[in-house]
Amino acid sequence: MLKITGKTDVYGIFGFPVEHSLSPLMQTAAFHTLGIDAVYVPFEVNPENLKDAVAGLRAMNIRGINITVPLKEKIVPLLDKVDEAAAFLGAVNTVKNENGILSGYNTDGDGFVDSLEEEGVDISGKTVLLIGAGGSGKAVAFALLKRGAEKVVIANRTVEKAESLAGKLESYGKVEAVSLGDVENLLEKVDLIVNTTSLGMKESDPPLFNYILIPSSVTVVDIIYKPFKTKLLLAAEENGAKIVNGLGMLVHQGARAFRIWTGRKPPIDVMKRVLMEQLW
Ligand code: ATR
Repeated sequence: MLKITGKTDVYGIFGFPVEHSLSPLMQTAAFHTLGIDAVYVPFEVNPENLKDAVAGLRAMNIRGINITVPLKEKIVPLLDKVDEAAAFLGAVNTVKNENGILSGYNTDGDGFVDSLEEEGVDISGKTVLLIGAGGSGKAVAFALLKRGAEKVVIANRTVEKAESLAGKLESYGKVEAVSLGDVENLLEKVDLIVNTTSLGMKESDPPLFNYILIPSSVTVVDIIYKPFKTKLLLAAEENGAKIVNGLGMLVHQGARAFRIWTGRKPPIDVMKRVLMEQLW
């Protein structure tokens, strides 16, 4: 039974809206499993009130907070320090409060790479075709290069955004920007294909390219976690390619936040199971 006392630590998530967030369920399960005396609650924070909400973290000694859309960028200047990924991305998804000193982290990209490792996918020395150059694409591309990928080819509908991101990543490794139309010619030259766009969430979404052309030799990853198998993943599986769904990224970005806050080894299997039960 959940026992809340005067000593219980408070954690939560800021979002606007926040009602669809799965983090309260996942983090509460993690605290409960390890017997940590803490609760994790959703806070709907209108962007115009973010400054007051951050002051509230200090004032009320809230121990840690996750940050989701549309606040990840806006919170950066309100914190005392940020880690390297958050500084590069200009976006924070995790805040730790230590006696009023607020440290910001971004665990999205590392969570993505952790989820690949969990599936036995080694990125070292690999060439990755990354589709999408938005916030998620940026986080994933940065982590891939930092953690040993040989090259990241960024394909985006708006090619200028891919070029701009490639420029920012140049000092971290080999990067190239291409248009979505170039993707089909690159499929045989890459080890991993990663979709970081939202295309595929809806049944009616068109394909990003002709999925029949996916070679069996590649690993295909979709950061979308619902549906469990997007059209991209279904087609890749049909062709004999290894596939990885986005649920692992959601779990592992949360697991890293949990470790930052508590210093404890996160109960990954429990976190994943409660999400699976909620989603399917
Ligand atoms: P997120 O934070 O989830 O990455 P985002 O920053 O809004 O969200 O980025 C969305 C990404 O999905 C972009 O790469 C976007 O391409 P554009 O830069 O050309 O807009 C991509 N995207 C969204 N809808 C798309 C569509 N219908 N076809 C192709 N790409 C799409």
